[in-house]
Amino acid sequence: MFVDIESIRDQFPFDPFKAIVAPRPIGWISTISVSGIANLAPYSFFNALSSDPHLIGFSSSGWKDTVSNCEATGEFVFNLVTEPLLMSMSQSSAAIPLEESEFEFCGLESAPSYRVSAPRVAQSPAALECRVVEIRQLQGLDGVPCQSWFTIGEVIGIYLDPAYITETGRFDTAKAAIPTRCGYQDYMQAGDLFELTRP
Ligand SMILES: Cc1cc2nc3c(=O)[nH]c(=O)nc-3n(C[C@H](O)[C@H](O)[C@H](O)COP(=O)(O)O)c2cc1C
Repeated sequence: MFVDIESIRDQFPFDPFKAIVAPRPIGWISTISVSGIANLAPYSFFNALSSDPHLIGFSSSGWKDTVSNCEATGEFVFNLVTEPLLMSMSQSSAAIPLEESEFEFCGLESAPSYRVSAPRVAQSPAALECRVVEIRQLQGLDGVPCQSWFTIGEVIGIYLDPAYITETGRFDTAKAAIPTRCGYQDYMQAGDLFELTRP
């Protein structure tokens, strides 16, 4: 079966795109507004882009509060979602006014970051403090800007909960039991870890 992208919705009741590029990590992004209100929202159009320098990026479908705060302050924090934080993460995707904080809305404790003004999620075992490198409005083949903005941030510091550091000095990804995003309303929990050495 092959389907040209223009007719994908004629063939499927729901676009399978996000179920194919899956599972995707969830960038749980905290920012702060110029008036000092902390914001928190999940973004699964998210990934690590480079490790030298350490770059991460997420895409906002529409000009949302997160990208607006990123533009205004030049900073954001990635918070790692773990299994116990799954429901709070989902709750934090609610569209609430910019003057209200998702931290309060979700009953989540925040903790001050070390190098940026945006706070982190206190219960999250890892957070990446970032400065914004660029915010780019995306476009398709037609060259027409679309309603998606891609924010790239450079990681300037990493918060780690020592309870998640193994004896050999590694971050314990398996212990973090990281939920990931699939298509539709589906999620997948990161499962067993296995090692595969490179040729
Ligand atoms: C798991 C999950 C992943 C999401 N990923 C994205 C995304 O990649 N891009 C986007 O624009 N919205 C995404 N959303 C929706 C936003 O989280 C939602 O619109 C939120 O209200 C944005 O908040 P903000 O306006 O405070 O930035 C996602 C929601 C969930 C639950």
